[in-house]
Amino acid sequence: MTVRVPAKVNLHLGVGPRRPDGYHELVTVFQALSLYDEVTVAPSPGLHVVVTGEGAADVPIGDDNLAARAVRALGAFTGHRPDVTVTIRKGIPVAGGMAGGSADAAAALLAADALWGTRLDRTALESLAAGLGSDVPFALHGGTALGTGRGERLSPVLTRGEYHWVLAVADEGLSTPAVFAELDRLRAGAKPPPPVGPPDGVLAALRAGDVVALGKALRNDLQPPALRLRPRLQRVLDTGRELGAVAGVVSGSGPTVALLARSAGDAIALAASLAGAGVCRAVRRAAGPVPGARVVADTP
Ligand code: C5P
Repeated sequence: MTVRVPAKVNLHLGVGPRRPDGYHELVTVFQALSLYDEVTVAPSPGLHVVVTGEGAADVPIGDDNLAARAVRALGAFTGHRPDVTVTIRKGIPVAGGMAGGSADAAAALLAADALWGTRLDRTALESLAAGLGSDVPFALHGGTALGTGRGERLSPVLTRGEYHWVLAVADEGLSTPAVFAELDRLRAGAKPPPPVGPPDGVLAALRAGDVVALGKALRNDLQPPALRLRPRLQRVLDTGRELGAVAGVVSGSGPTVALLARSAGDAIALAASLAGAGVCRAVRRAAGPVPGARVVADTP
């Protein structure tokens, strides 16, 4: 059973104080992008994970692998032994702030559910997804959604039009906990962050289908800590704007930089000139919003 699952970018990522459980209260707007991983789950003796594609060597394949955890969680919930091989074909940058690991967990849940015929309803799948990671429910959901809590509580967002992105992929990933911890350090001693309000600017721009207004409204509270940990990302942001991007923002906890283009044609031109500028390891194009995780084939 094979499931295709999209990456995400946060159009707004407002981070509140650290909670007693270690997570931060978030208000975020996710958009699913047309950059995909494919996850195949097939019966085998015991649980195994195989990863192929770009950055595959950097994905842990042991018990910690999020897709393996997803299969074990579904198995425990439904009474199935997790005797499957999970094959992950990476198209989403690894440790890039685009929720690739979460996407693989969502895809593995859906694929194992289809393979075993357990047919969990949406609520049960979403609750298992939330237990696996803050971004996993959104990878199931797709489209555009407002996320609250630690990011796992979702409501759909009204959006018009298609948005064209150019993604600057960095040489080396960043750890999400390290970026949140750096944010805590930056905030230490300062007055507490203001309560995270609703992302009105982003929501209004999406409702109107206004790419320029969306560019102005992009916000990511994890950008300053990501830039502290990886100062050369500033050059990527500056170069993107010089080359004609409407706006640029670090994607999630980074280090991928997401540049918003005015149109599909502008995105092609921007991607070519950004690749020529030599400020990042790789350049990708993607459009959003796209649907969440979907079964694409029932044969490996
Ligand atoms: O939920 P997930 O496992 O993807 O989160 C990875 C890490 O990111 C957490 O362990 C935590 O350090 C940080 N995080 C956070 N607040 C959130 C989401 C994630 O501090 N809302």
